[in-house]
Amino acid sequence: MLNEQGLSEEQVLSRLNSLLENDATYRSGHPVASMSTIPHSIGSEVFYKTMEKNAGRLHTFKGSAQVECEVIAMIGELLNLENPVGSTTSGGTESNILAMLCARESNKKIQEPEIIAPRTVHSSVDKAAWLLGIKLVKTPIDKEFKAKPKAIQKKINENTIGIFTTAGTTYLGQIDPIDKIGKIAQDNRLHLHVDAAFGGFVIPFLRDLGISHHQFAFEVEGVTSVSSDPHKMGLAPIPAGSLIFRSKKFLKKITKKIPYLQGASATQSTILGTRPAGAILATWAVMKRLGKEGYRQMVLQCIENTQIALNRLEDNPLLKPAIKPVMNIIGIKSNELPLEYIVENMEKRGWRMATSPKPHTMRLVLMPHVTVGALNAFFNDLDQVSTTIPAD
Ligand SMILES: Cc1ncc(COP(=O)(O)O)c(C=O)c1O
Repeated sequence: MLNEQGLSEEQVLSRLNSLLENDATYRSGHPVASMSTIPHSIGSEVFYKTMEKNAGRLHTFKGSAQVECEVIAMIGELLNLENPVGSTTSGGTESNILAMLCARESNKKIQEPEIIAPRTVHSSVDKAAWLLGIKLVKTPIDKEFKAKPKAIQKKINENTIGIFTTAGTTYLGQIDPIDKIGKIAQDNRLHLHVDAAFGGFVIPFLRDLGISHHQFAFEVEGVTSVSSDPHKMGLAPIPAGSLIFRSKKFLKKITKKIPYLQGASATQSTILGTRPAGAILATWAVMKRLGKEGYRQMVLQCIENTQIALNRLEDNPLLKPAIKPVMNIIGIKSNELPLEYIVENMEKRGWRMATSPKPHTMRLVLMPHVTVGALNAFFNDLDQVSTTIPAD
């Protein structure tokens, strides 16, 4: 209800604070399945100070336009592309929709377009297909929950316009064999999008740290676009996503003229019109402040905490990881008690959980806010809950 007269600032803030008491905070460490985290302080500061700026009006905010270009250049570098083009977005969902739009607009002659994707793609890929009138053909995955290149190859027909893959799947953090799929895409002249919404700010640093070496982005020749979200492991405030294309011709396919605007505002390559430049400026500030070394150290810490979690998991005979973790995500399986029972009781103890259908797991995402203290408290509760047989 909108009150007739305005309330005092004190009243507003006190009412809001009491409403927000129901929110979990990252600082508590309780959201253990979230892919977002506490933004880096410089990001929060920049966002707060630049909230009036509109990235849908880059002609008015020319400085912000320059900053957006620099953000695209920095993310492109992490994705191994020399001259990246693309756009910042509101996150992984918008990026996936735009990547699919690009595939559709590049194949306008095909009346009933189809996209092939392994079963593990994020639900926003289904949403994109639904919005864009594209048939999404799902393919089986292997024992490690990775795409099977041969299964993708088999589904290619005259209506196929593209392939979608993931580098850092939502449920398990798995990376598809993108190098092999890249070859298939190239041989069949298909678009290949890599959803690295989560992995985009992890995999490059795993490589630097000598932990693992995955070809996942533009170093694979067949890859046409990659999405990577600064508001996940990039430590930027929400909403900060990005979609990078191999060349301008792809970006043009998703660019629309806005007839009543001037200069840089007269075209848009995003779904949103008015959108916060603050998130882009904050992303720039966080990336500049951390540098590659800052991200490397952050990723290293998350991987070390993943190992601590795995050690605790090993001590519990009733739980086990679905696969050996590839990055800072663990899918936990229960040998005896139903996961729903465990999750419900963990939620009652304040933990904010998530379950995944395939494989049936509860997800642990070792974001920077999940500290060693929070982890140990979580496993102390989990050990109790998972070994307590329900009364009935
Ligand atoms: C792999 C992947 N892609 C896309 C998304 C969607 O991102 P957003 O929620 O920022 O739209 C997620 C979200 O968890 C994800 O894990």
